[in-house]
Amino acid sequence: MVNTIGVIGLGVMGRNIALNMANNGEQVAVYNYTRDLTDQLMEKLDGQTLIPYYELETFVQSLAVPRKVFIMVTAGTATDSVIQSLIPLLQQGDIIMDGGNSHYQDTERRYDELKPHGIGYLGVGVSGGEVGALTGPSIMPGGDLHFYNEVAPILTKIAAKADGEACCTYIGPKGAGHFVKMVHNGIEYADMQLIAEAYTFLRGNLSLSVEEIADIFETWNEGELKSYLIEITAEILRKKDNVTGLPLVDVILDQAGQKGTGKWTSLQAIDNGIPTSIITEALFARYLSALKEERIQAQPILAGPAKNTQSLDKAEWIEYVRQALYMGKICAYAQGFTQYKMTSEINNWNLPLKDIALIFRNGCIIRAEFLNVISEAYDEKADLANLLIAPYFADKTARYQQSLRNIVCEGIQSGVALPCFSSSLAYYDSYRTGASNANILQAQRDYFGAHTYKRNDMEGTFHTEW
Ligand code: 6PG
Repeated sequence: MVNTIGVIGLGVMGRNIALNMANNGEQVAVYNYTRDLTDQLMEKLDGQTLIPYYELETFVQSLAVPRKVFIMVTAGTATDSVIQSLIPLLQQGDIIMDGGNSHYQDTERRYDELKPHGIGYLGVGVSGGEVGALTGPSIMPGGDLHFYNEVAPILTKIAAKADGEACCTYIGPKGAGHFVKMVHNGIEYADMQLIAEAYTFLRGNLSLSVEEIADIFETWNEGELKSYLIEITAEILRKKDNVTGLPLVDVILDQAGQKGTGKWTSLQAIDNGIPTSIITEALFARYLSALKEERIQAQPILAGPAKNTQSLDKAEWIEYVRQALYMGKICAYAQGFTQYKMTSEINNWNLPLKDIALIFRNGCIIRAEFLNVISEAYDEKADLANLLIAPYFADKTARYQQSLRNIVCEGIQSGVALPCFSSSLAYYDSYRTGASNANILQAQRDYFGAHTYKRNDMEGTFHTEW
């Protein structure tokens, strides 16, 4: 039996990727470390054909040469152990693709380990969750281009499509694909948190009901904010709890989980001097949310502002929230794409920023109308320093910045934390400041540590006896 591709790891993502491949005409061998998942999958097949194997060796032997193995197992040691067991079974020219949320530096290490064996290793970022994996995810493959070319026909077939184009493109060498996926998740954190803050304002400051907010999100989803995350938030808000009949969101515990990719995004940015404050603020918002017990204890102890009696015109303020959300989104994506640009320069990756925006248009969690304008901004100027200064966004922020200020001020006055809205405004105002306050920092550093400073009116390095 000659199978065209093999999938290892039959958890929900792996299973759906395998089915997606089968639905697209591939003859797919499947293998899972424990046989129960394989059996469950085979029982549930609905007209599709997957070829199950219970021994890794026979699974590998069943594959057409060069063998193409797609692994979708938990990132970390599980991925390492699958790769180690594959090495003796594969030959030079065979290709392993890791579709999990692996840390891009692990991908680089694995790439280096497999290189002497002549085995191709592609770190393949896959976004779209469970449904996307089955119906078409956004795919971000990195590694050697000639190995990518071998698997490109399969990956582009199973990817989502936007305007008829596959949401899959070669990203760059070694860990570049997983890096792009990692930062995608950081952007996802910021986008989600901004939406949560818009909800907080609409519910708390404008006293709107959950139903009314669902209507607002639905309306927003017909305009420039159109995106998967806005769409699902409207649906989430409509959902009622079976037990209490309340909106389900009202009974969901306000403690955010996270699997680590957002944290990795912030750590990498910090390590490399990349300002991604909004993404990191979104991560910290999750961490603060996790301190539920402490927050409950602090509530009666810590004072807030005097009761705000100002009554806001609802229609006017709903529009401020919409503009603030769009403005926050621009700032968050500007940070994520800056992280791509700066890291690309550090590693000589030559990341295709325009194409990255294009493959995010469909399939992935952050898919949005908005990505069309981002790709156009890079189309106009491939080496754009920051999305904020692209003409389209400069014009948009000029018109929307006042709304963000209104919302942040009102949040501050009413004692409602809007960390990502506030952080977006601080980023915007800091980025548009030709003269920052870092002169004071430099003077302080020179004062206490003789760290020296530069002057803006002459060349050289200076120290003052303060
Ligand atoms: C995707 C998602 C996916 C997953 C994250 C969520 O693009 O399909 O980003 O990768 O939902 O693991 O991450 P957290 O658990 O950290 O929120």
